[in-house]
Formats: sequence, C-alpha cells, structure tokens
Amino acid sequence: MTNATITGWGKAMPPATLSNDDLAKIVKTSDEWITTRTGIKERRISHVDVSDMAAVAAHHALAAAGLVASDLDLIIVCTCTADSTIPSTASRVQEILGATGCAALDLNAACSGFIYGLVVGTNMIKAGTNSKVLIVGAEKLSYHLNFADRSTAVLFGDGAGAVILEATEDDVGVLASELGLDGDARDLLAIEVTGTKGTRQSADPAQSGIVMNGQEVFRRAVTTMGDSAVRVVEESGLSLGDVDLLIPHQANSRIIDATARRLKLEPAKVFVNIGSYGNTSAATIPVAIAEAVEQGRVEPGAVIVFAAFGAGLSWAAAALKWGDRVEPVSTSDAALPTTDKTAMELIQPNIDFFGLA
Ligand SMILES: CC(C)(COP(=O)(O)OP(=O)(O)OC[C@H]1O[C@@H](n2cnc3c(N)ncnc32)[C@H](O)[C@@H]1OP(=O)(O)O)[C@@H](O)C(=O)NCCC(=O)NCCS
Repeated sequence: MTNATITGWGKAMPPATLSNDDLAKIVKTSDEWITTRTGIKERRISHVDVSDMAAVAAHHALAAAGLVASDLDLIIVCTCTADSTIPSTASRVQEILGATGCAALDLNAACSGFIYGLVVGTNMIKAGTNSKVLIVGAEKLSYHLNFADRSTAVLFGDGAGAVILEATEDDVGVLASELGLDGDARDLLAIEVTGTKGTRQSADPAQSGIVMNGQEVFRRAVTTMGDSAVRVVEESGLSLGDVDLLIPHQANSRIIDATARRLKLEPAKVFVNIGSYGNTSAATIPVAIAEAVEQGRVEPGAVIVFAAFGAGLSWAAAALKWGDRVEPVSTSDAALPTTDKTAMELIQPNIDFFGLA
C-alpha cells in the first residue's frame, strides 16, 4: 500500500527578536507574567512577506529530501496570514522556487493548519494523485498585533517551517489522524476586518487586530488537544507507551503540559520551543519538526504525535511513524535577506495604527 513519508524538513525564522522586556516597555506586562502564564520569553518579527519565509523553509526542506523544486507536484501553504487574498501565497512560493506548473494552494485552518495540510498531502499521495508534496506552515501574525491589547500582543510571532512528503511503499507516515472544528465557537478567536466583512479603513482599530477570549480558548484547548492526541494513538493501534515524541502546537506551555499529561509522557518526550518563538500558528509544528530532527530528538522509525488547536475553533491530531532517515540528503544556503531594523522598529506601524493602551 502506498504511504506518505516525511523526507525533508526546514525552517526560516526572521532575525529580529522582540523580548518580553521589550513588550513591557510598550504595554502593561512583565517578563515574569508572560513567562509564568505562557512559557514565552521572546518572539520573531518578520521584515519580509510570508511567502519569503515559506520559500526559504521550502529550500531547506527540498535540500534535506535531496529534491529540486521541479520534482514537486503539489505545494500546500498552510497560513492564516496570506500575503494577499488572491493570488494565493502558494502561487508566490511556487514562483520563487521555480516549481512552475505544479498544483499549489493555500490552506487556512489557523493554528491547526499544518496538521490539516499534512493529512491532505498524505491522502493525495495515498490516492495516487501526487507523489512529491511540499507542505509549508508560514505566518506573519505580527502584522495583526494590537499592542494596546496585552492579552494577545504577547502571544504571537512570525516564522515558517516546511516538510516534504513523498510516496513510499514502507509502512510509515501518518498512521491515524483526526481533523475537526467547532464553528459555534468561531467568535472566540478572530481577525475579521481583513475579510469581506470589513476593512481596516472603516474599522475601529480596537476591533481590527486579533480579538480573543483567552480563557475560553484555553479551556477548550486543554481538553481538545489532549483528547484528540489520545484518540489518534488508540486509532493507530498503538499504546501511549509507544509514543516516542509529542510535537504539539506551541500556544501556551500550560496547554502543552496538560496535553503531555493526558498522553502520560515525561518531559523528555515532549518538544517545546515556545520560549524562543511564541505562537507562530501554522508554523509552530513544522518549525518544531525541523528543530527536533536537527537536535537528534527523532530516531529512525520514531512514533511522533502531533496535536493542535486554533481559530475556528479548529483542532487536529496525527500519529506518525518516521521513516529510516534522520540525516538530510543535502543542505541549502538559502536565507532571508538581512535587515538592520530592530523588532521595535518593525512593529512601529502597528503602534501607529492601533495606538497604545
Ligand atoms: C491569554 C492567556 C495567556 C491569559 O492567561 P490567563 O491565566 O487565562 O489570564 P486571565 O485572562 O485570566 O487574566 C488574568 C489577569 O492577567 C491580566 N493579563 C492578561 N494579559 C496580561 C499580560 N500580558 N501581562 C500582564 N497581565 C495580563 C488580565 O488582565 C487579568 O487581570 P485582572 O485579574 O486584573 O483582570 C491564556 O488565557 C491563554 O493562553 N489562552 C489561550 C490563548 C491561545 O492560545 N490562543 C491561540 C490559540 S491557537
């Protein structure tokens, strides 16, 4: 039976770093509050577009897989912060890579987006429609940050991660998955004014950024991520003791801890990098995959569980068996352009638009 296995991985994190102490200079918060309530110490602020970060991550993933862009037959860019409504961010990624002609689409399931993309890509390969698929999670959430709202401004950051999925006859890849969404909770986390319901020009700045009921999102996330993660392990015919690594969406370290407890996993089996990047939405999991492999946290044949939740409210989980290669076939020197702007300078347009509290 044809399966889909991850053969390449990569990331692109913008260099400008916004620390908790930086934030404390512009909004009533503290490093102590942010660290203890979320686990976040700093986040990256991008000076380039989502497609630029996505393309650099993709170059690294292609090199790790030993492929060139023209080998791809499908590109899925998972993002809720697209460069433009049309054409898609995926079209720009395809253009930058030079993967002319291959199918390309954006997928928006917010922070659950990468797992949605992983499952769609896997099933396209299993169906025989595609054989070499690039899946990118890339976000520029800083564009939407209202620094007058301390309950959201401290949580999010920018970045991109990518994987290559290839067809294989080996018994590896996604073993079980679950995608879901509770539309009746869609108002709990929203950026509405960039859609056709409104525009920034006519909207109240206070309603123009990320609007979130943090406590309710937290309550639902804690239950949903753990439950769905346990279900995919059970559905894959494995037991919790077979899980080698949990790579969870990085939204809040307390939510990650609760998910790990549900899976009865010791901390050594949980990948956490939220301290460095905050919540980069669809990018958190592919960035974590790239870092986990680079750090030797993924063994050949490892059983990895992914779990996420996000706006929608969407959720997703997958149990995956890694293939036999954890070394990149090759490396790429692709990099984002340099910038002399600080993170504080990069967020100044937000402060000009939204104001400060
Ligand atoms: C946002 C979140 C960190 C807030 O943590 P919390 O423990 O629920 O905090 P609360 O909302 O109960 O607020 C407690 C107090 O801290 C204050 N507070 C909120 N943000 C703060 C900040 N950045 N710095 C200092 N104080 C802050 C609140 O105003 C409140 O003060 P009050 O008691 O005087 O009213 C937490 O709810 C969360 O992580 N939710 C999930 C959000 C998420 O992951 N969204 C993305 C989904 S993919």
